[in-house]
Amino acid sequence: MRLRRKKNRDTRYDRCIDLTLSPDSNLKNEFYNIFDINKITEIEIGSGKGGFITQLAKTKPDHNFISVERVKDCILMGMEKAKNAKLNNIRFLCADAEILCEILPESCADVIYINFCDPWPKSAHAKRRLTHRRMVKHYLPLLKSNGEIQFKTDNDALFEFSVQELSDIGFELSDITYDLHSTDTFNILTEYENRFSKMGVKIKRLVAKPTDKTYDIISML
Ligand SMILES: C[S@@+](CC[C@H](N)C(=O)[O-])C[C@H]1O[C@@H](n2cnc3c(N)ncnc32)[C@H](O)[C@@H]1O
Repeated sequence: MRLRRKKNRDTRYDRCIDLTLSPDSNLKNEFYNIFDINKITEIEIGSGKGGFITQLAKTKPDHNFISVERVKDCILMGMEKAKNAKLNNIRFLCADAEILCEILPESCADVIYINFCDPWPKSAHAKRRLTHRRMVKHYLPLLKSNGEIQFKTDNDALFEFSVQELSDIGFELSDITYDLHSTDTFNILTEYENRFSKMGVKIKRLVAKPTDKTYDIISML
């Protein structure tokens, strides 16, 4: 997401510093001092301006939430939303999905949300899609073996690709819908979802659970 640099960005970021996870600290050791191990932990990768995950954190005060976003000007907006709402069950990590396993402990997440990720339409760029096996390899170790990925998009081609790719690498897919808003699935809108659904675009969604085949295939990459 391209955003103009926010005014006073660094000062504003520092004001929310208690809500951040530092990519430089050894979170693998500190993680369970920050988060209660007995609580369900949910991570959103590519959370943009953070509307979805901060709203979810309000709705589920007894779960832990982590917002991962690589653009500082975007993540700041989520941090300020959480600060204003006085949320204490969410933390923000400004980092690329590709390095998450170096930062966060294995098997820490019950749910990973991928919402409206960049579609990278050219096939030469397919490996950058967050549902491509090369990217899944970077965040799968964070997911508990009985956990799940929840994926939403406006983009038909990306959705078709993701259904094929995730099932090819052994994920068990469920709750596939080509028109999420016509179902009674509990749903919190993201900023992109709000924009696209107002334009009349149908929102696609699936849930993907890893199987033994997934771990075998990913370990050979
Ligand atoms: C199209 S926006 C969608 C934002 C939000 N999820 C929504 O639905 O409104 C995709 C976001 O993912 C972030 N992103 C893309 N690739 C990423 C990566 N590899 N690691 C972390 N964030 C990433 C981008 O910076 C951007 O903010």
